[in-house]
Amino acid sequence: MGILSLNEAFAKPFVKDEEMQAVRKEAIAAYGTLCGRNGEGSDFLGWMDLPENYDKEEFERILAAAEKIKKSCDILVVIGIGGSYLGARAVIEFLRSPLYNNLKKDTPDIYFAGNTISAAALSELFSICEGKDVCINVISKSGTTTEPAVAFRAFRGFLEEKYGKEGAKERIFVTTDREKGALKKLSAERGYETFVVPDDIGGRFSVLSAVGLLPIAVTGIDISALMNGAALARKELLNDDFDNNPALRYVAYRNIFHRQGKSVEMLVGYEPYLQMLNEWWKQLYGESEGKDGKGLLPDSVIFSTDLHSLGQFVQDGSPILFETVLFIKNSGASFLIPNDEENIDGLNFLTGKQLDYVNEQAMKGTLLAHTDGNVPNLVLELEERNEKALGYLLYFFELACAVSGYLLGVNPFNQPGVESYKKNMFALLGKPGYEAEKEKLTKRLK
Ligand code: PA5
Repeated sequence: MGILSLNEAFAKPFVKDEEMQAVRKEAIAAYGTLCGRNGEGSDFLGWMDLPENYDKEEFERILAAAEKIKKSCDILVVIGIGGSYLGARAVIEFLRSPLYNNLKKDTPDIYFAGNTISAAALSELFSICEGKDVCINVISKSGTTTEPAVAFRAFRGFLEEKYGKEGAKERIFVTTDREKGALKKLSAERGYETFVVPDDIGGRFSVLSAVGLLPIAVTGIDISALMNGAALARKELLNDDFDNNPALRYVAYRNIFHRQGKSVEMLVGYEPYLQMLNEWWKQLYGESEGKDGKGLLPDSVIFSTDLHSLGQFVQDGSPILFETVLFIKNSGASFLIPNDEENIDGLNFLTGKQLDYVNEQAMKGTLLAHTDGNVPNLVLELEERNEKALGYLLYFFELACAVSGYLLGVNPFNQPGVESYKKNMFALLGKPGYEAEKEKLTKRLK
């Protein structure tokens, strides 16, 4: 039994042999395109070798910077949007907790900023930072993305006012392009320590680069073990042995369900600490596949919570979806259900049972119910909740995503659609050079 396995028992009954045989060939061909490095977007394949082929000198600097941040601040504000923050947040919540800031710990609180344009969110965060020692890690490849750029201006001003320019310099850590861009230029002028968003790695594939690793290391997570897990996945999954490769089989199933008319893949977790991993996964698959009028809509839920909201729809609403359940076999947590002498709720048959055991039975019961409702279910079983297993899982999803994109016939590494809203927003805000566009848009809004 490896770290990760794909249980197909609740998906197989929905797939005919001939469907699997047809997709098998195409999935192997798509994998060949990826590994032959001759598909569209092939200049963005740096993530494939990253777990082995990373900048070791920078890795040491990340560890040193994390120590410096731990010693000098109560709060680290991580400024970034999309691929520049989702990976770090997913890993921190998965391995530490969604309530990380409330835990008893000797590492700084972490807040994420620059991922909205919300005045309420930013002003709340400033009031939380009042009277606290603060460091920031601003992460932006371009350096000009509106959301993080606005938050960075505000936090840079806050730090300079509190600590002076020299003091602020010791508290600002910048992750950006190796050579160019507004942040790189500013960092060189002001003397900020910088880390690199590699040229050949897009934002949503960047969690195992400095983009994710610095904030993750600040929380005390073992980033070497995370990388080792990803390296193991690379070793075990980079092959076209379709019958035994869970990444290729996951690719095939989701493609078959898509062809059968399912338009939504719902990633299902049974733990609140999977919430942000769901969000990371949604960006990875949504931005990689959703183009040229194609792609599954990646959606997500946390059960059993959402069984009490969306469960009804999944069970017998429009037949538009299949589920991919991510099940963590050994969460490492222990909570025994207490006895109640009066047995008011009638649940004394559960007395002394582990809550994780109850959760597992809820998962099994739901699998059976949803497949009875004709909803196919793939089950990804992850052995442990630890760095190595999570590193493995992240690489698994990245690899499967890239192969899926090629199988679908899209470039998995670009995101042209993200630009449309930005263009309109800049025009409406009166950015110089957008005057004609502004006039047209304003008329349409009347
Ligand atoms: O995946 C991506 O490429 C995007 O989500 C980017 O990471 C996001 O738009 C932020 O861009 P930048 O790092 O240039 O600020």
